[in-house]
Amino acid sequence: MVLEMEKYLKIRKAQSEGARTIEELKSISDIVIENDTELEEVEKLLQNTCKCKNVSISTIVEAVKNGADTFEKVGEVTGAGTGCGRCKGIISNIIENKR
Ligand code: FES
Repeated sequence: MVLEMEKYLKIRKAQSEGARTIEELKSISDIVIENDTELEEVEKLLQNTCKCKNVSISTIVEAVKNGADTFEKVGEVTGAGTGCGRCKGIISNIIENKR
């Protein structure tokens, strides 16, 4: 199953505002998760930062903790953000909050 584009965009926007869990996603957005299959898809997406390079949130957090304190440095270390660049907001939020 693939998430509807509207939901996908809501999740990505919420991630760039700091949402890392289902609870945080629901508190930031008005998203409605229809069923368990959709919940699984949402959880998977919440663990991902960069779709182009398939880089997880935890990989970015690790890179930031190891000193990658700019979008460019994160890109050099992980490859994240070096494709379409649409994940820049999420990466910037991770750098800012270190989570
Ligand atoms: S989603 Fe990260 S570069 Fe495209």
